[in-house]
Amino acid sequence: MALPLVRTVADLRARVRAWRAEGLGVGFVPTMGALHEGHLSLVRLARTKADRVVTSLFVNPTQFGPSEDFDAYPRDEARDAGLLEGAGCHLLYAPAVAEMYPEGASTIVTVCGVAEPLEGAARPGHFAGVATVVTKLLNQCGPDVAVFGQKDFQQLAVIRRLVADLDIPVEIVGAPTMRADDGLALSSRNAYLTAEERQQAPALHQVLQTLLRNLRDGESVAAVERVALDALARAGFQRIDYVEVRHPATLERLGPGPTDGPVRVLAAARLGKTRLIDNVGD
Ligand code: PAF
Repeated sequence: MALPLVRTVADLRARVRAWRAEGLGVGFVPTMGALHEGHLSLVRLARTKADRVVTSLFVNPTQFGPSEDFDAYPRDEARDAGLLEGAGCHLLYAPAVAEMYPEGASTIVTVCGVAEPLEGAARPGHFAGVATVVTKLLNQCGPDVAVFGQKDFQQLAVIRRLVADLDIPVEIVGAPTMRADDGLALSSRNAYLTAEERQQAPALHQVLQTLLRNLRDGESVAAVERVALDALARAGFQRIDYVEVRHPATLERLGPGPTDGPVRVLAAARLGKTRLIDNVGD
């Protein structure tokens, strides 16, 4: 049997209401499609936490900048539906843009603080788009638990913040990053890499791991960041937006001296036309 599909908020709510009437708990995995093993691991994790799992597939125009890849973003709903069914998803929610943003929609959710540095600085407006659509999706579905990947570590922090600040009654779960055997974090955008760039790409993860090891060996934040920046440039990354040591919850800057407290190391850099992000912690 094919995976059930709904396209409207009303139909989504009717399905969820019926499950609730049976006493079933609901898990939710928001996606933009172009699914890979990383997304499927989120669905599998949601299944361990809820009786029924809804996955949304919506390429959200408001989180793409004017010069970003909204039009080029890979779309294949039939393929994605097949993968989701295999992973144990119970319902696909794939609204049209007009269902999500009807004529006259004028509300934007802006998260301050944690949404401002890193991706917030490199991609103006991105997190307002993410925060707005995630708030809407959570309100539309009303799940008990929602699962997001740690691959987008700052996005996860932004969503935890908005759920707390707006009193949205949902548990947010962060799922570990899935990686290829050579360490490259799985991402829908890896599809843009040429064969040569794909060979270079794992250096991003290697550099972050080395940075963390050096930091834990007692080197200063400023020194490990500088060495990592040079290493990424030598590995062929052309535009390095950031490679930084931050606090894992607030994403505030740490250093410049040594630190033995909790950290998250985050980076974004470009290989040719493809912008890659990754992060590590311990
Ligand atoms: O991580 C993503 O794929 C998107 O940012 C999300 C959370 C589905 C919102 O559009």
